[in-house]
Amino acid sequence: MTDQHRIVFTPSGKRGDFAEGTSVLEAARALGVDVDSVCGGRGICGRCQVLVAEGDFAKHGIQSTADHLTEWNSVEERYTSKRGALGEHRRLGCQAKLCGDVVIDVPPESQVHRQVVRKKAETRAITLEPVVRLYFVEVAEPDIDSPSSDYTRLVEALKTQWNIDASMPDLAVLRGLQKTLRKGEWKVTVAVRKGHDIVAIYPGLIETAYGVAVDVGSTTIAAHLSDLYNGETLASAGLMNPQIRFGEDLMSRVSYVMMNPGGEVEMTDAVRAALDDLVGEVVKEAGITREAIVEMTVVGNPIMHHLFLGLDPTELGGAPFALTLDKGQDVKAREVGVSIAPGAFVYLLPCIAGHVGADTAGVVLSEAPHLNDDVTLVVDVGTNAEIVLGNKKRLLACSSPTGPAFEGAQLSSGQRAAPGAIERVRIDHETLEPKFKIIGSDLWSNEEGFWEEAAKTGVNGICGSGIIEAIAEMYLAGVITQDGVIDGDLQARTPRIVGEGRTFTYVLNDGEPRITITQADVRAIQLGKAALYAGVKLLLDHYGVDHVDRITLAGAFGSHIDVKYAMVLGLIPDCDLTKVGSAGNAAGTGARIALLNETARGEIESVVGKIEKIETAMEPKFQAHFVSAMAIPNKVDVFSNLAQVVTLPPPKVHAEPAEGEGGRRRRRG
Ligand code: FES
Repeated sequence: MTDQHRIVFTPSGKRGDFAEGTSVLEAARALGVDVDSVCGGRGICGRCQVLVAEGDFAKHGIQSTADHLTEWNSVEERYTSKRGALGEHRRLGCQAKLCGDVVIDVPPESQVHRQVVRKKAETRAITLEPVVRLYFVEVAEPDIDSPSSDYTRLVEALKTQWNIDASMPDLAVLRGLQKTLRKGEWKVTVAVRKGHDIVAIYPGLIETAYGVAVDVGSTTIAAHLSDLYNGETLASAGLMNPQIRFGEDLMSRVSYVMMNPGGEVEMTDAVRAALDDLVGEVVKEAGITREAIVEMTVVGNPIMHHLFLGLDPTELGGAPFALTLDKGQDVKAREVGVSIAPGAFVYLLPCIAGHVGADTAGVVLSEAPHLNDDVTLVVDVGTNAEIVLGNKKRLLACSSPTGPAFEGAQLSSGQRAAPGAIERVRIDHETLEPKFKIIGSDLWSNEEGFWEEAAKTGVNGICGSGIIEAIAEMYLAGVITQDGVIDGDLQARTPRIVGEGRTFTYVLNDGEPRITITQADVRAIQLGKAALYAGVKLLLDHYGVDHVDRITLAGAFGSHIDVKYAMVLGLIPDCDLTKVGSAGNAAGTGARIALLNETARGEIESVVGKIEKIETAMEPKFQAHFVSAMAIPNKVDVFSNLAQVVTLPPPKVHAEPAEGEGGRRRRRG
């Protein structure tokens, strides 16, 4: 009997006894240790690199030394002469064979399922588990004496060399097969999806596959190109959603479809062309070909999701807001107008409800409230706010029609967040004089040099985060009452308050252009924030709690607003401010997670299936919550956490009615 030797793998701790001459890679395979390989042990991909740990390992009862592996061989020599030296103590796991007991360390870059570092400490790491993997094979050449097709011999090679059972061939992949085999001199790399679908075949050895994650927003579309083998983002690109020409907001786009027969086809073509253009941009930036992209994931709100798939979104325009499809969906990239590897798929994350889309599913996947004990509120603020509340026990979701005010639209001095827009505001409680900051400058408007800097962009208007701070500061300074009425009596104290008809206006910038906060602006923001808060309250009611432990603001708007001011305004409920944060583009991150980790797709599909959907339009209590939430921060709810860090003014009620008084429901859009 041949000698048996013990091998212990770290960090997994897996161990076993193997016959002399077993390669480290074979032992790893037998024990289920995560060691990568694209070339199948031929010593050409370098993916299987391992380190020998030397010393006395009493814990494992073995003495491990480098010479307990066979000597450095000619294959390793060839590899290093072509590709450069391996690190100290490193060997190719497929070449180094056991001749004694060893402890073998598998470095992260040799693990298939390594973790991808995420910037925020509190977010969970992404484990690499790409849905498409590469397999290098040597295919038998055709033989006149035993005729068989090139495809049959390719499938045989996959079976014998990798134990892969390939499924039915894809015609688009087959078309290039013969040329590729001959170009590669019968050595090819096969990209296989889910262990059976061949999505691409490349001549020779290809070591890395790429994927693109896309977030199709109603305003912008963003794409991120990732290396599926190390999780790195190699290129990103974004552009305005070309559907804007059919309507600024989602509902006007649905109206366009209703009014113009075939309008959905135009919009589908526009969004698909934009995605394909973005793919062109990211491959150019990364210096790779379109064919190297083997997988794509897409998130988007329900209307974008449907339009991208070529599904008519008309039903999403009115109650009961029925989706055509709510499950996660695989579709061939070429069927949706995206030109990448010939057999590649696009995976769309599931939609949650008629107004809560695959983008929110992406946010849930990224922020993982379903894995937490804390009752977490996740809000993505846009023209519709998508709201998710819950923890590992239950998750609930709804959307609430906040209107366009938070994006700076329909305000007297509103504008989108762009250079020159006021984004920060402070008001002196004594003098009622404001100071502000604009996007593009770090200086406050009362600091030296501000106006010289501002001359480059101009001071153009006020964006969503600016208006939230402005109104919250106006409230803290006593310029507006709890009911949101601009107090005209203060005209005696400051020229900043001017009368306009029956109401008053606060002048934020008395220059060119004059930037004001009118009573109607305050009302627009009150309506928006009340709609959002009422949605949150409905979810709290349904969950049966009266407070949240944690709040995450997702989306571009959420990452720019100061959470303290959002709370002063009563946009979000009271919470320990240290537990309130922003998640940036969490929907896009969710798409990236689904791109890099196949299990995450099953996870989000299962979580979405269990989310309880609340339709705000059908809830009788919505109106009562909405009316209470019109007050700043709220008529009935107490903000005790907030009161510890901010001095909230005593209630001051102004008798004078203001324009747009009262709580009215808004249409969605
Ligand atoms: S498995 Fe490819 S070099 Fe070892």
